[in-house]
Amino acid sequence: MFVVVGVTGGIAAYKTVQLVRLLVKTGHEVHVVPTDDALRFVGTPTWEAISRHPVTTSVHDDVARVRHVALGQAADLMIVAPATANTLAKMTAGLADDLLGTTLLATTAPVVVAPAMHTEMWRHPATAHNMATLRERGVIVVGPEEGELTGGDSGPGRMSEPETILDVALAAAGGPRGDLSGLRVVVSAGGTREPIDPVRYIGNRSSGRQGVAVALAAAHRGAEVVLVAAHVDDGVLAEASAHPGVRVVRAGTAAELGAAVRAHTDADVIVMAAAVADYRVAEVSELKRSKEGASDGAITLDLVENEDILASLVKGKRGGQTVVGFAAETPGDGETLLDRGRRKAARKGADLLALNEVGWAKGFEASDNAVTVVDAVGTVVIERRGTKRDVAEALWDAVLTVRQNK
Ligand code: CTP
Repeated sequence: MFVVVGVTGGIAAYKTVQLVRLLVKTGHEVHVVPTDDALRFVGTPTWEAISRHPVTTSVHDDVARVRHVALGQAADLMIVAPATANTLAKMTAGLADDLLGTTLLATTAPVVVAPAMHTEMWRHPATAHNMATLRERGVIVVGPEEGELTGGDSGPGRMSEPETILDVALAAAGGPRGDLSGLRVVVSAGGTREPIDPVRYIGNRSSGRQGVAVALAAAHRGAEVVLVAAHVDDGVLAEASAHPGVRVVRAGTAAELGAAVRAHTDADVIVMAAAVADYRVAEVSELKRSKEGASDGAITLDLVENEDILASLVKGKRGGQTVVGFAAETPGDGETLLDRGRRKAARKGADLLALNEVGWAKGFEASDNAVTVVDAVGTVVIERRGTKRDVAEALWDAVLTVRQNK
């Protein structure tokens, strides 16, 4: 595809370098049209080197080849990232005082904008009005996401990640469909919390990063994803929440997570990446429990077993459905991760079980992971060490393998 990437004057322009790189790497011809302001953040040599094409901001360059409209006419897709409040206002008004303005007016290709600005500017009625007008005209808007902004502020205004912008833009242009397109997928992530009283709970150390990466990788490859998130930080969830292929549903306890997952038992693939509490408190106290009146310096909490969601999904599995579990293990002496995992795979009966080793200083919070994926009879399908996203991609490769072999 012939893709024109407009870059406007915001610090997020540095992330657009990665977007252009991804577009070039996936075989597209990319022409970058920065505004003068954008060049104060990232300069012409960078854009030229990364896009492999000359870059200009002026309507007075290359006049013989009517460059001010030629790029827009040739484009199959236009992306403006970051799109500042000023540029969005100019687009709404149809101003054409630079090459980006003329190119936008000359194109009939899908236009995708990735706004980036401070929260106040995003929420200003003028910007809101401009966004409504642009949307009405068919402009596709990706983001902005909630998160840290320059100067220590935080709130909605952060430009979406390059990978998300790429997914949205390629989908808008009817671009190459991913190998999971057409699949409906449910992924649970995070850790459930079982209340003891209104103040306290029994929880676990899962950050939800691996599950969120699994959801994002699926959406990136074209699946329609429901992400059931149990106590995942907003920061970890931000990219998934902003991805148009992902719907986030929140759950607190194991029972809530079970209900949320079961609302989608018609999904083609269910991945239980959440750390689900095996037990809940038998009687949750209505009031905060107090030491007052407690007798001998100890208390006893009665726990009852929660339903094993994964096991019940396996039991109720419909034809063509793939159910995947995760198992975070701490192998003891003389025992390997695989030994433990194989026993669990046999017990759980899921089509695939992703095993990873955890410990006091291993596995949680980290951005890297190492996973061995076994099938229901314990055969190793895939082993992968890398970022949580790498591991997620490998898991989807394994899912496709078992689905093809059925
Ligand atoms: N799981 C679940 N429902 C539960 C507990 C676990 O669906 N009540 C799922 C998890 O989401 C995960 C898999 O089962 O995909 C394995 O979780 P894990 O806690 O390792 O398994 P347990 O059966 O609880 O085994 P263990 O004896 O090691 O606690």
